[in-house]
Amino acid sequence: MSYPFQITSLEQYHKDYKRSVDEPEAFWASVAENFQWRKKWDKVLEWNFSEPKVEWFKGGKLNITENCIDRHLKTMGEKPAIIWEPNNPEERVRTVTYNRLHKRVCQVAQMLKNNGVKKGDRVCIYMGMVPELAYAVLGCARIGAIHSVIFGGFSAQSIADRLDDAKAEYIITCDGAYRGGKDIPLKSVIDDALIGNKTVKKVIVYTRTRTPVSMIKGRDVWWEDEMDIAEEQIEKNGVVSFPAEEMDAEDPLFILYTSGSTGKPKGVVHSSGGYMVWTTYTFVNVFQYKPGQIHFCTADVGWITGHSYIVYGPLSAGATSLMFEGIPTWPDAGRFWDIVDKHKVDILYTAPTAIRSLMGFGLEPLKGKDLSSLKILGTVGEPINEEAWHWYDENVGKKKCPIVDTWWQTETGGALITNLAGVTAAKPSWATLPMPGVQPILVDEKGNEITEKDENGLLKGNLCIKAPWPSILRTTYGDHERCRTNYFATYENLYFTGDGALKDENGNYRITGRVDDVLNVSGHRIGTAEVENAINMHAGVVESAVVGYPHDIKGQGIYAYVIYNGHHGDEELRRKDILQTVTRIIGPIARPDKIQFVNGLPKTRSGKIMRRILRKIAEGEVSNLGDTTTLLDPGVVEEIKNGKL
Ligand code: PRX
Repeated sequence: MSYPFQITSLEQYHKDYKRSVDEPEAFWASVAENFQWRKKWDKVLEWNFSEPKVEWFKGGKLNITENCIDRHLKTMGEKPAIIWEPNNPEERVRTVTYNRLHKRVCQVAQMLKNNGVKKGDRVCIYMGMVPELAYAVLGCARIGAIHSVIFGGFSAQSIADRLDDAKAEYIITCDGAYRGGKDIPLKSVIDDALIGNKTVKKVIVYTRTRTPVSMIKGRDVWWEDEMDIAEEQIEKNGVVSFPAEEMDAEDPLFILYTSGSTGKPKGVVHSSGGYMVWTTYTFVNVFQYKPGQIHFCTADVGWITGHSYIVYGPLSAGATSLMFEGIPTWPDAGRFWDIVDKHKVDILYTAPTAIRSLMGFGLEPLKGKDLSSLKILGTVGEPINEEAWHWYDENVGKKKCPIVDTWWQTETGGALITNLAGVTAAKPSWATLPMPGVQPILVDEKGNEITEKDENGLLKGNLCIKAPWPSILRTTYGDHERCRTNYFATYENLYFTGDGALKDENGNYRITGRVDDVLNVSGHRIGTAEVENAINMHAGVVESAVVGYPHDIKGQGIYAYVIYNGHHGDEELRRKDILQTVTRIIGPIARPDKIQFVNGLPKTRSGKIMRRILRKIAEGEVSNLGDTTTLLDPGVVEEIKNGKL
């Protein structure tokens, strides 16, 4: 496969960038022409950010799975689409060719049809990192069902809320999942999530761990049985195929829930056409992918990174995507390096938190591992500190591999600000330049563009984007107004990212982190309000306030200040009870790192918690708390300072 839209020089980057801004419709039409459309679009772009309404390739007809699979079959049918590395290195690797992927996805499509799934229905997917997860996602896309993948670390309660919000009628899950030394009982979590649920009709269960599961007659079916039935139905002369549903470019492809500054996660909705074009375009350009290379993105498909850069982007580009079931530190901290060595990985794309955690093990785990196949390294999910950047560069890339620092979000669908490997320059801890089609702007609190440089000669402000790129979110599921108020109402005619950023004299951006009440813990987004709601569910808790603080490995840790009036147990036990409550309500990923019991919280006279003060105390900046005179009871600050953990 060739990529006529691949940017191969700095000059071309500047030229393409300019054209994408001057003539966006012509530019994106020329990129979109390289995909398989059943019918070409009537209009490339229509938009306004006030509603918001964004339509790309309107009237165009396609199915993303024909682009990710069918179009490669003739020339690359026997090439590996997915290489699966299991949790346990002793277990057999599975190599899924494009032909095999086609067969499996067709079977899933027929299986879904047999179980009543139709175009537009919502299918919740709660699985471990097995190839069947990719088949499930693509099988939904093939029949036009909207998938909503939920990360395996979320609790039954979180799943129940998401099922309810999406009014999902179908679930695909596993009996269990392997994660390092643990078996996670996924089906059992689903069973808990379904207590009281009124919408779910069918649960399809793939066998991975053969953990005992309850199978409810009429509702629960085994994946293996259903796939066999489907295969028999659609096999003709040894060929298994299922016609892909024709989708409009603007038909929703998936929902992915993500945290915001309010208590309830939002269902970000992505479209079919624009998302396909953007994920492929960015995959090929950011990583400078060359046919035949092996791309290893270490994310989980439960997050947007896995959707865009394990499944859709690489497969649409006809790449080989390496899918890994385990964790970086099991059976030992050399796991990534073993995988790179064993599969001769060309591109490694991971999170700064993983790099920092592996740095902590020193160089021993790297000894004797041949990393010479690596050509390009990438990071995503959070700002990367310079120390981790240099460690990655020296010890993993051996100073020969460009590192791409890709800034983006669940809502953006794919990378927006990033260097292009070896084409545009890297700058440690800077995401650098916008992709063609992306027009960032830094604004102050009122929405005025920042024009004055700070003492370091940098512009500093809140990061917004002026115009839509093809994979911008289209809505938040079931509540368009929420989409407007969250992203398009803070500043008129701008998409607000929620991030702060710096810009240097060469136009490079450095993302400094969230400016709203959203935390980034190990590259995962968690709303402080969500964690507070969960803590407040504990019977002994009167009130709580949650803030982030710098954490050496996770980037940000969760610090909770809790007013407690229960009498049960000692302080340590109460802490454990609260952690258990958060695990139940959200999942282990939202467990606070520190819980400080306090008698009061710093509040203004109108009752608003002064988080700024709590954040400073959690960060250890107790000497400079700023103005505390507006507080209802300035005395509580002293007490909180003295009790800091
Ligand atoms: O704060 C930014 C941070 O992660 C947020 C988006 O989180 P999520 O939707 O979970 O998506 C993560 C994977 C795309 C952003 O608002 N972030 C993401 N990438 C970077 C980053 N911060 C700094 N540098 C990055 N490269």
